[in-house]
Amino acid sequence: MKYVIGVDLGTSAVKILLVNQHGEVCQEVSKSYPLIIEKSGYSEQNPEEWVKKTTEGLKELVEQFEGDVNDIEGISFSGQMHGLVLIDENNQVLRNAILWNDTRTTQQCQEIYNIVGRERLLEITKNPALEGFTLPKILWVKENEPEVFERASKFLLPKDYLRYRLTGNIHMEYSDAAGTLLLNVAKRKWSHEILEAFGILDDFCPPLVESHAFVGTVNAEFARETGLSEAVKVFAGGADNACGAIGSGILTEGKTLCSIGTSGVVLSYEERNDLDFEGKVHYFNHGEENAYYTMGVTLAAGYSLSWFKDTFAKEEAFELLLAGVDEVPAGSNGLLFTPYIVGERTPHADSTIRGSFIGVDASHERKHFARAVLEGITFSLHESIEILRSSGKTIDSIISIGGGAKNDTWLQMQADIFNARIEKLTSEQGPGMGAAMLAAYGCGWYPSLKECAQEFIQTSKTYDPIKENVEAYKKLFTIYQQVYPQTQELNEQLREFRK
Ligand code: XUL
Repeated sequence: MKYVIGVDLGTSAVKILLVNQHGEVCQEVSKSYPLIIEKSGYSEQNPEEWVKKTTEGLKELVEQFEGDVNDIEGISFSGQMHGLVLIDENNQVLRNAILWNDTRTTQQCQEIYNIVGRERLLEITKNPALEGFTLPKILWVKENEPEVFERASKFLLPKDYLRYRLTGNIHMEYSDAAGTLLLNVAKRKWSHEILEAFGILDDFCPPLVESHAFVGTVNAEFARETGLSEAVKVFAGGADNACGAIGSGILTEGKTLCSIGTSGVVLSYEERNDLDFEGKVHYFNHGEENAYYTMGVTLAAGYSLSWFKDTFAKEEAFELLLAGVDEVPAGSNGLLFTPYIVGERTPHADSTIRGSFIGVDASHERKHFARAVLEGITFSLHESIEILRSSGKTIDSIISIGGGAKNDTWLQMQADIFNARIEKLTSEQGPGMGAAMLAAYGCGWYPSLKECAQEFIQTSKTYDPIKENVEAYKKLFTIYQQVYPQTQELNEQLREFRK
């Protein structure tokens, strides 16, 4: 039996999967690392930490593996998107990575519009200037840390840096490059026009490859540290959302995914690269060749729940925290939560907005708050579904993965709020599984990702909307939608008190 490894370099942890030729997850290792939050709106990580934890995780996986290590044929990666890693001419990291959920760059986004123009930016990159994307971060370093920027010879995205440390070779692939605002998404080329507009040299950008491209083998040092064979083939990998799509079989038009990790996304497969969503949703290259996807993002989805747990139930397991939520009716007895704890992306690209609990009543217990958090996250994702529906898409069935697919009550809640059938897969490990599938396809196990998906991906359970809940949530959603405009100005005023 042959095996491949999928490494999902996430925001809270690196998750590593060993997958066999039938798509069965044989082993799983996860190693967490912290966010560095120097002040409100900042979010960084030390790239060395990613390398260290991945090395430890792979070593553990190899030690526990009972088969012949030479049967592990390939490895590939899924990575948190947009994070800026700057390296000098000796490929040394120059500062902490600035992550996708860091919102310090509002001014740089405005500069991008002033210089390129919103329309032209949308034409080239298919996306608006959002704080989370990479170009605003590059400009922030250029303006605020010029001594660092002067020494920077290239930029990388998180998983590309990790892969460089495994192979010694530098590449970027289209699905992640799409989130930089430097890629001409439809032409699949770095945009010379945008680079030139900001005085960035062309060779600041790494060479582009396909997600399943073979980019080298594991180098001697990494093989020694992990126990992997030096013959293991390394494949480029993809953005976590592109890999989530691959790992859930979102490989044909009409398929929609809801993925809840630290962020939450709703994404839909697109064959075409010439549609116009006016920047209301992200429009990125898929990890499948010549395919695309559209996506709405809730910045703090799983993060809202882990924030709630860490703040109010630190010592308890998630299962215990969520134990009472199914006793609480839809609507949490009049308690509403908006998950804007680090600002928001879709549909409100706003780095100043913050979350709220509205309607707190003396009768509310912790379980009502916990349910309200789940409902608020799901309402936020529903906003993205409604944008996709209003563009003409029929969304009557959605595959759900990640943290949101681990809890029955939350899965039923998704069916009721989205008013769609929810499908849970045998493995809800989307991004790691997608990375493993890229390695399997790269190794030539299957002639296409679609055929790999037929073998690897199965539905384990479905959840159909319950009519009376759908009706209750329709009403609650209209109330939820009023919270943003009504708290926007209040949050502007509160901003000066944030440290
Ligand atoms: C997508 C985004 C997040 C990260 C999370 O645009 O910023 O989903 O990819 O890792």
